[in-house]
Amino acid sequence: MTAEITERIRTLQREKNAVILAHNYQIAEVQDVADYVGDSLGLAQQAAQTDADVIVFAGVHFMAETAAILSPDKTVLLTDVDAGCPMADMITGDQLRQFKSEHPGVPVVTYVNSSADVKAESDWCCTSSNAVNVVEAVPSDEVLFVPDKYLGHYVSTKTEKKVTTWNGYCPTHSWLSPEDIELARSEHPNAEVLVHPECRPEVVAVSDHALSTGQMIDYATKSSTSEFIIGTEIGIIHQLETKNPQKSFFIASRRLVCPNMKRTTLEKVLWSLEDMSTHITVDPEIAGRSRLAIQRMLDVSAHTVKAGNG
Ligand code: 13P
Ligand code: SF4
Repeated sequence: MTAEITERIRTLQREKNAVILAHNYQIAEVQDVADYVGDSLGLAQQAAQTDADVIVFAGVHFMAETAAILSPDKTVLLTDVDAGCPMADMITGDQLRQFKSEHPGVPVVTYVNSSADVKAESDWCCTSSNAVNVVEAVPSDEVLFVPDKYLGHYVSTKTEKKVTTWNGYCPTHSWLSPEDIELARSEHPNAEVLVHPECRPEVVAVSDHALSTGQMIDYATKSSTSEFIIGTEIGIIHQLETKNPQKSFFIASRRLVCPNMKRTTLEKVLWSLEDMSTHITVDPEIAGRSRLAIQRMLDVSAHTVKAGNG
């Protein structure tokens, strides 16, 4: 059945000149049918560069919205219209305007996990893989960082700049506790602990490295270590195991499941292409303002990758 659905997806892809982009947290079958699987930065870069006419996004709403902002001439489809991100919903454009008015003149760095309205009110965007580099690139000693207080806190430990955070967080990553890490370490004493910077600071403090999902895969692939405890959404284990069949990966907690990332199935990828749904569009005026903030981030990443900083 899976092979049959995959075949139908491939036929429609050819007919419609479509590319399938999937986040590392998607279920294994969806990752396996995608043309590109990656972290939020990689997905945004792919969306900006692709010459496909249609982008099928297996992820959550803000990711498809970012793709639509970067490629306004393309048709961007989200595989499940209800796949949102609770952290992105923790700040609105109105709330950000109010926050800015309380800190006049301080530039705003916005995590890509946010709505287009919020990005349009921002000076810079970032993802978890380039947040430190972006904050360093802002020509100011102080920034407002929204919506993720934990990523913002992580950045503040890596820069001299003053980082004032909004009170948002990822419910999935916030489940993870230092006790979970301790238990996993006692069960796998030779393993390195890799966690996402969306985790709480006390979890980052007891881990070996805080990395974006794409950085985790790179790190585990290049490392000479053969066992890893993974503190991020469970879907990433499939990418880690596929790229490193000889290594062992242990999820730090069974609670690390994002219900929104798990809404997409292989069937939904097929239905998206059959029905050309759900088409994600962004108001051109809002898209124009958010594009500036996203483009600044892409420019910083292009520069830092060339300089070898990741
Ligand atoms: P990255 O894949 O960019 O690390 O993002 C994690 C995440 O939570 C996306 O929603
Ligand atoms: Fe949002 Fe967290 Fe799910 Fe990522 S893992 S989409 S930040 S709720």
